[in-house]
Amino acid sequence: MEIAKRLEGIGEYYFSHKLREIDAMNKAGKNVINLGIGSPDMPPHPDVIKTLYEEALKPNQHGYQNYKGSPVLRNAISKWYKRWYDVDLDADSEILPLIGSKEGIMHICMTYVNEGDVVLIPNPGYPTYRAAAKIAGANVVEYNLKKENNWFPDFAEIEKNYWDAKIMFVNYPQMPTGQLPTKKMFEELVAFAKRNDILIIHDNPYSFILNDAPMSLLSIEGAKDVVIELNSLSKSHNMAGWRVGMLVGAKERIDDVIRFKSNMDSGMFLPVQLAAAKALELGEDWYDEVNKVYKARREKVFELLRTLNCSFDENQVGLFVWAAIPSRYKDCYELSDEVLHGSNVFITPGGIFGSEGEMYVRVSLCTTKEKIDEARKRIMNLEL
Ligand SMILES: Cc1ncc(COP(=O)(O)O)c(C=O)c1O
Repeated sequence: MEIAKRLEGIGEYYFSHKLREIDAMNKAGKNVINLGIGSPDMPPHPDVIKTLYEEALKPNQHGYQNYKGSPVLRNAISKWYKRWYDVDLDADSEILPLIGSKEGIMHICMTYVNEGDVVLIPNPGYPTYRAAAKIAGANVVEYNLKKENNWFPDFAEIEKNYWDAKIMFVNYPQMPTGQLPTKKMFEELVAFAKRNDILIIHDNPYSFILNDAPMSLLSIEGAKDVVIELNSLSKSHNMAGWRVGMLVGAKERIDDVIRFKSNMDSGMFLPVQLAAAKALELGEDWYDEVNKVYKARREKVFELLRTLNCSFDENQVGLFVWAAIPSRYKDCYELSDEVLHGSNVFITPGGIFGSEGEMYVRVSLCTTKEKIDEARKRIMNLEL
């Protein structure tokens, strides 16, 4: 059967086929340590699981749900945004709960993109931006992020060439580079969007990981006119498999996206929504505990990367460490394959995030300290 044209050039998601290769190696007894994927290995807070369990026991919680999500969850999101980001959001009209933030990327593209519209995506950046925009028919254009520019967009360069873009995806703390935003850059971004009439999609799932000062792009004055923000409980609350995210912005934007999304799914299981609301009420202790673990792991990852003679910025944040590889390698794929086949350790090649990542690798913090140490020892035994 011929597949639809819209899927031309859209491959299977890199990790989906790489995991198959790792699976095959494991079946052959290789016991691969996977330092690739960013799925938190720790559980959510016990109160969150208790809420899910208690709510699921009730006989009347199993029906279809409101397309706009439960008011309990929307209120919790509104309070969470106020408490941590100092952003006011109207719980009734400016919040749309999502089944994970990844689906929001697709919904936004399907809502706004016409055939041939220019959609700007970061290079390096999360591969889903490109895939979703392409499926929606966009003319996908990369804007390059460079280390010497703090991995920030070069607004003058973009403005010169792509002033006619309709949508721009932005993501700070940035994945894969771990770069934090600054207020000044966020202000420039909002001003740039207003000057050029571009809708900014700010993808913000990492702001609580190894970062004391979470920031929302919506905290910038006037941002609601030009920004939709995506956020997620996957990383901040160890709930990646639960699929809970959110889309926040002006009422008009929420209404636009609901026109598409309400035709795609029929709401989210209510006990999951109520448990997610519970998670959003957690205090500072929760984030401190999670970050204590990631901090210790990050030190171990730094050691591992030194073993590989990679260089990196120790102030980066998020669930990964991004590191430049030694120049003796042709590219990141050579290093990644050498480590995978020589040491049975998988490290993500930075090139999968775009050409600017070709001389970088990304190491995940979602594995125990002991495993990271074992990976380092295996790599030390490899003839590099
Ligand atoms: C930059 C970025 N955005 C979005 C997502 C998707 O997160 P969610 O689990 O909320 O769909 C990820 C997940 O890895 C990510 O790295």
